[in-house]
Amino acid sequence: PRVLILCGGLSHERDVSLSSGHRVAGFLEESGQWTVDVHDVDSTLVDYLTDPATRPDVVWPLLHGSYGEDGSIRDVLEMLDLPYIGSRAKASTLAWNKPVAKNIVRKIGRVHTPHSVTLPQDVFRELGVQSIIRLVVDALGLPLIVKPHKGGSALGCTVVREAEHMPQALVDCFAYGDTALIEHFVEGTEVSVSILDTGDEIIALPPIEISTPSGVYDYSERYTPGATEFIVPARLYEETLERVKEDALSAYQVLGLRDIARMDFIVDLDGTPQFMEANVTPGMTDVSILPREAVAAGFNLSELYSRMVRAVLD
Ligand code: DAL
Ligand code: MG
Repeated sequence: PRVLILCGGLSHERDVSLSSGHRVAGFLEESGQWTVDVHDVDSTLVDYLTDPATRPDVVWPLLHGSYGEDGSIRDVLEMLDLPYIGSRAKASTLAWNKPVAKNIVRKIGRVHTPHSVTLPQDVFRELGVQSIIRLVVDALGLPLIVKPHKGGSALGCTVVREAEHMPQALVDCFAYGDTALIEHFVEGTEVSVSILDTGDEIIALPPIEISTPSGVYDYSERYTPGATEFIVPARLYEETLERVKEDALSAYQVLGLRDIARMDFIVDLDGTPQFMEANVTPGMTDVSILPREAVAAGFNLSELYSRMVRAVLD
């Protein structure tokens, strides 16, 4: 069967996506079970997907960032009736929007997510930057984290410990989109849990602890080998590890995700997991979290990825 990996594209995370795509392609080829094509997504995509010479049997979208994670490319795959690995377009659209995902996850009741406000750039223009900053700091307290409400790889994210640094954080955030998610910044342990459908069952991989010099796991700490220390399983009490896994699975289910996702949390100083976001196209580069967790759980990546492809084809 022909497997087509979609990667690259035009998002801010283009380079990361090319790296994820080629990495996964390499593991699938290694299994000897597939003809693997890699397509750097551009305007020829629909021709490529519909031409009898290149039409794949199954697609693995490994596009990070907009188009890839917001559901639009997945919509195209659904229109063309092509089986693909990963969450449906509708669920992706919801998960990609961090404030929307937080609200859906909050409805579970048991899963916590930090207090936040979501503000479009226009509001700052209308009401004045300083007055909004005062309101937000009064309501949420400090420290805060300012993020683009849709985005990945921590691009445009800044931890703000003093109100005077807020205007610059907003400028950096609005470089990536027109709406800011301003969230109470949780001090604690950053932990990620990947969820996989292996074909037989849906499993939570061992939670990984992310320890970085800056404490925020920024873009360069993500993709510079050795810049971040990963500890798997995370150094948490056994019951906390179980709770993070349960919360990750509950969030995955309530968001209606499918096949593969990575759920990000900060475990606060009281040991409560605080949901940050769900990633429908988690990084799969050689420095990314999901492959590390899978290896720690004893999986051979070539076999695991092949199982996931087979599960969608069957
Ligand atoms: N957005 C990057 C690729 C990640 O979540 O791993
Ligand atoms: Mg993300």
